[in-house]
Amino acid sequence: MNLRPVVLKLGGSVITEKAKPLTPNLKAVKRLAEEISDAKVTPLIVVHGGGSFGHPVASMYKIAKGFTNKGQLVGFSKTHEAMVSLNKIVVQSLLDKGLPAFGMPPSSFVITKKGRIHFFQEETLKQAVETGLIPVLYGDAVLDVDTGFAILSGDQISAFLAVRMKAERLVMGVDVDGVYTADPKTDPSARLKRHLTLAELRKMKGQVGGATVTDVTGGMLGKMSELITPVAQGVNALIVNALKPGNICKALRGEEVIGTRIER
Ligand code: IPE
Repeated sequence: MNLRPVVLKLGGSVITEKAKPLTPNLKAVKRLAEEISDAKVTPLIVVHGGGSFGHPVASMYKIAKGFTNKGQLVGFSKTHEAMVSLNKIVVQSLLDKGLPAFGMPPSSFVITKKGRIHFFQEETLKQAVETGLIPVLYGDAVLDVDTGFAILSGDQISAFLAVRMKAERLVMGVDVDGVYTADPKTDPSARLKRHLTLAELRKMKGQVGGATVTDVTGGMLGKMSELITPVAQGVNALIVNALKPGNICKALRGEEVIGTRIER
């Protein structure tokens, strides 16, 4: 069996209605489950973002700033629980397609240091993959050795796993067609970049357009920085619009699709 998994990140702005707190985009979630089922790629690890589940709660209690007062403890737990609810929706929609999706809460096996992964107990995840399950992880509120707690983004988890599990490829499903020269939501002259090399990725970091809604983990800019390590290690990454039907299926299979392909 080929144990190099494909890692798929589904952005929070794809699977939730980002402007409406605690509202899933069920239509998108169901369609994506179908595309994942049609793609028939194994092994597969799915990681999803927080969108309108994790972000509003995390920002209300300033979880990303770390532990400064006891009143935040309830907020830390509520942030995690919001993510558990979203994870249940994603896992259930995959199960409905007959896929062996298995929800795994990152906060149970990851500790960060200043927001970066410091400890990652990966044996359980590896065994789940070897057994034939499809682990479904997510951006989560996690404990942090320095700051008490932190928000660990799904992007950081996906990039980490792509390196650690020597991923076949890393697919980032977002709500825009890829990386643009400017923000396509506000600037009509923005052009899509179809290919990026590692050198270009490093150079672009700091000047990319993309996500517009404030997000506690950094939008497209954060995504670009996270991709540097996996791409440098030889994992090909693809940023693709997961709101456009068919894209995720093609991307998972490694077929030609409109998006931004990032290669060393
Ligand atoms: C954030 O995860 C999770 C929480 C806020 C708890 P991500 O940062 O991966 O979420 P999106 O994809 O940007 O919504």
